[in-house]
Amino acid sequence: MTNNTHSSKERMWYEIIKEIKECTRCDLHKYRKKAVPGEGSLNSRVLFLGEAPGRKEDEEGRPFVGAAGKLLDALLRNIGLSREKVFITNVVKCRPPNNRDPREDEICACSVFTNRILSLIDPDIIVTLGNHAGKYVFTILGSRSWYGVSRHRGRVYELTLNVLVKKVRVIPTYHPAAALYNPILRRELENDFMLIQKVIHSVSEKREGRTLLDFFGRGGE
Ligand code: URA
Repeated sequence: MTNNTHSSKERMWYEIIKEIKECTRCDLHKYRKKAVPGEGSLNSRVLFLGEAPGRKEDEEGRPFVGAAGKLLDALLRNIGLSREKVFITNVVKCRPPNNRDPREDEICACSVFTNRILSLIDPDIIVTLGNHAGKYVFTILGSRSWYGVSRHRGRVYELTLNVLVKKVRVIPTYHPAAALYNPILRRELENDFMLIQKVIHSVSEKREGRTLLDFFGRGGE
């Protein structure tokens, strides 16, 4: 594809990728092999927000390609989706050393990119994976209190976020890594993905004359 066949959305996405790869806003850039901007369909109405790249993601420059990613792929498959149909990114785009939790100042430094990605994709549904993503969307973007993922999961929140001009449905759930060796959390995560499927169907039905395919491809809009 030549440059002038790229849509303006694609061009904006490539610009964001370039800036993330060159970013030195926080110390995480010192440790990264590859930055991990995110991937998926720029036209998807569903965006998954994770925490931070791990070792494998840092090597490949792609989100959720390690063990947690395999579980995420399976959960998506169970509800008839794939990573190509949705959009996946993280609250920080570079791997924290030794896979420690991202710090608030790092999440804040990276929010410039997180928010640009949210505005670009302009999703109807945001699924937050784990505490950091849930807390970021609720408190920083939605000016709402956050009491931890186990208090919020299993429900759909209609929030007005300061980076989007419309209300979105936010579905908080566990981070897949937390469910890898915990069958109880895994069952709850699977239930939350069934909820995601239901919400996708109800949102797409409300859009008159639109099929699920239109929902993900935005019918050529
Ligand atoms: N965990 C995350 O939160 N994000 C990734 O990209 C990989 C693992």
